[in-house]
Amino acid sequence: MKVLLSGVQPTGSLHLGNYEGALKNFVHLQNSGEYDCYYFIADWHALTVLNDNTEQLRNNIYELIADFLSAGLSPDKSVLFLQSSVKEHAELHLLFSMIIPKSWLERVPSYKEKASELGLDSYGFLGYPLLQSADILIYRADAVPVGKDQCPHIELTREVARRFNSLYGSVIPEPKELLTQFPLLPGTDGKKMSKSYDNIICMKDEPDVVQAKVRTMFTDPLKIHRDDPGHPETCPVYALHSIYNPDHKIFVEDCKSGSKEWGCVKCKKLLSEKLIEHFAEYREKRRIYLSDKAQLDNILKIGSEKARDRAGKTMRMIRKAMKLFEI
Ligand code: TRP
Repeated sequence: MKVLLSGVQPTGSLHLGNYEGALKNFVHLQNSGEYDCYYFIADWHALTVLNDNTEQLRNNIYELIADFLSAGLSPDKSVLFLQSSVKEHAELHLLFSMIIPKSWLERVPSYKEKASELGLDSYGFLGYPLLQSADILIYRADAVPVGKDQCPHIELTREVARRFNSLYGSVIPEPKELLTQFPLLPGTDGKKMSKSYDNIICMKDEPDVVQAKVRTMFTDPLKIHRDDPGHPETCPVYALHSIYNPDHKIFVEDCKSGSKEWGCVKCKKLLSEKLIEHFAEYREKRRIYLSDKAQLDNILKIGSEKARDRAGKTMRMIRKAMKLFEI
């Protein structure tokens, strides 16, 4: 069976954009039965930004595994694991670091952008995409479901595999990215929903939080008064309606014509209700998962053992191909 792998950094609560763009697809791929799926929490990657706030990491890890499970990932169907529990990733990263020119890493687009934006200049940050290559290649993965922003990292991963294979013999297959097609989700300010813009609505948000966030959402800037004609096609509130409210077509004409019956306040109130309803079960599951940390530990422990099994096999192939001395 083909192997599929993806990782998520535990850097904070997942939001609707993460859900629509990644998690939902992870679950779909898991249930398609086409792949052996490996999904992991990239806690070492998160250290590139959270190195001065490591206590927070523990809680973020629990929240993320609870999100995985609440979304429908299952330890019976997928291998769900923690990166730092499979030390082989670090070993492979080190071996790769000996054969990959620095310039390959310096030219990865995210490096220059983020280095200046976030003031990151650690050695580990430069190596971020190489660690990602190790994450992928150590499972000899065929497919990696990711967003478009990650494509340069997958491209690098293929180059790393090629370099390794040309030096030591064909051991590692080249993986492909699996791009998800999903509607771009606007945040509360109308820009792309993203943690760094502070415009997110999270699955864990309680009803009062959802209401407060939706109340402050940007709407069609041309609809100032209730009777001004609206433009739903450019309105972020409507964009969310079209995903979370199956009856979103009903009020379109009233919005467009500027009918007194349908203003933005009412429209937002309905959106809050739909969002709250849509994620009610999710929130409840998440609460239950988070109330039993021992169970979460156990799920990650068992998953990490399975992951280690495959990673260990690859490492034996790698050490052998490299003719490394083993006693
Ligand atoms: N860099 C990825 C992100 O920020 C996370 C990640 C780390 C990853 N290792 C991976 C994704 C391996 C896919 C495969 O989203």
